[in-house]
Amino acid sequence: MRLVVPLQGLIVHGRGGLVLGSLLPCALFYFLQFHLKRHRSPANSTPSSSSSSPIRAQLSSRASPIAKPNESPYYIGMDMVRSDPYHSLRSPDGIIDLGIAENRLSLDLIETWLLQNSNDSLLQGGLTIGGLATYQPFDGLMDMKVAMSGFVSEVIGGTISLNPSQLVLTSGATPAVEILCFCLADPGDAFLIPAPYYPGFDRDVLYRTGVELIPVHCGSSDGFMLSKNTLEQTFNQARKRGKRIRGVLISNPSNPVGNILNRELLYNLLTFAEEKNIHIISDEVFAGSVYGNEEFVSMAEILQSEDFEKERVHIIYGLSKDLSLPGYRVGAIYSCNENVLAASKKLTRFCSISTPTQQLLISMLSDKRFIQQYIKINRERLTKMYDLFVEGLKQLGIECAKSSGGLYCWVNMSGLISSRDEKGELALWHKLLNIAKINITPGSACHCIEPGWFRCCFTTLQENDIPIVMGRIQKITPIGTSQTGIP
Ligand SMILES: Cc1ncc(COP(=O)(O)O)c(C=O)c1O
Ligand SMILES: *[C@@H]1O[C@H](CO)[C@@H](O)[C@H](O)[C@H]1NC(C)=O
Ligand SMILES: *[C@@H]1O[C@H](CO)[C@@H](O)[C@H](O)[C@H]1NC(C)=O
Repeated sequence: MRLVVPLQGLIVHGRGGLVLGSLLPCALFYFLQFHLKRHRSPANSTPSSSSSSPIRAQLSSRASPIAKPNESPYYIGMDMVRSDPYHSLRSPDGIIDLGIAENRLSLDLIETWLLQNSNDSLLQGGLTIGGLATYQPFDGLMDMKVAMSGFVSEVIGGTISLNPSQLVLTSGATPAVEILCFCLADPGDAFLIPAPYYPGFDRDVLYRTGVELIPVHCGSSDGFMLSKNTLEQTFNQARKRGKRIRGVLISNPSNPVGNILNRELLYNLLTFAEEKNIHIISDEVFAGSVYGNEEFVSMAEILQSEDFEKERVHIIYGLSKDLSLPGYRVGAIYSCNENVLAASKKLTRFCSISTPTQQLLISMLSDKRFIQQYIKINRERLTKMYDLFVEGLKQLGIECAKSSGGLYCWVNMSGLISSRDEKGELALWHKLLNIAKINITPGSACHCIEPGWFRCCFTTLQENDIPIVMGRIQKITPIGTSQTGIP
């Protein structure tokens, strides 16, 4: 902006010289300022003056709410971490992130494999530039589907085999969720979902497809397990309100609780879906992240062994959790429904996996020895971290619900909240974030109706971070603030 200096050079001598000499320059100065302000170019105008305009450059009614700042503590916490992340040396007072379900426990194994094999798996491995740089099928290379089927069988324990031609590959599990909702429901229709549920589902399901999620509330008295009765009740209530229910969306092992739906429950769900003529989407991205000897049963196994109507069941897998590769963006839809497959394949034009990524992963997933080793070691490390984390909390007098899998535990902090409601829960969340400098996800962000439960992801930590985390939590517990108890 130009600098305007009062007319210092204008000096009038004689009577009135003093008045003119001071007032005239001032008047001219202010007139000039006023003139400049009115004729300022648009580039100079402040953002607030343009955004207050009610009609110009508006977004669609779909995008407007998405453009607004996030209100969910799940996303607010993530943003806070990004602005002040913890690092043991560079930023020891930064926020420790226990809000993201990301597994870093076995990245060393992945890194070693990549260092040894990246060369061979791409151009030097006999691939031509034509096979990498040109258009390929958007729903995934057949070799990648075969490799993915093999990985899933390995993860689930080798008892089932997926037909690769019934797989549609997507850039992560997120677009797989969205595509299935798009294919199975119309805007305003709804899916039932056992709650508490993964906070990201609200985005994945609602944002673009306009499909709603109706929570089927599960409580601590049943270990947050889905019950047939509550499912039936919620279905009937929603129908009374005029909602068209198109299906049930489950995550198994569940996020955020980490519990596993057993065989009987899966049978019940399939029977329910047939009775009501609706679909089942089973998100099994944590299938390979189960602790110790816990048994996980995939919906794919039930379908293989029983006489259910296969066309109404759709399974989601991915490499973001079980293979610790969320940055590679690989997910999959597995369905026996020809129409779902046909539509999904076309929709992958919006979310295909890059060919170099697929080629690299074809090599990695086909390296059976590596994959078996990885699964085994990763599971051992995961189980150990789960035990250590839960034990650490226990020593502070904080208990967790029983988890069988996942990258997190579901923590009962209701003894630490000032009022037994969402307000009390969020007050504790604030305290943890701003005083203890720990980001965790409050149950309310997962649509849990019992206040005081929190999801803590522990797989971004190393073992020696655990005492630091516990020390920070202790700071805001009654024991910590009264300076007694564990040193
Ligand atoms: C149950 C569930 N589904 C899907 C996703 C998203 O996975 P992706 O990163 O592969 O899109 C997550 C990530 O946390 C998840 O927990
Ligand atoms: C990979 O290729 C680069 C460049 O050709 C070479 O310097 C490197 O040693 C190779 N690495 C392995 C593990 O073969
Ligand atoms: C959760 O913690 C509160 C307070 O410590 C306790 O009263 C309640 O029984 C716990 N709930 C479960 C399911 O363990």
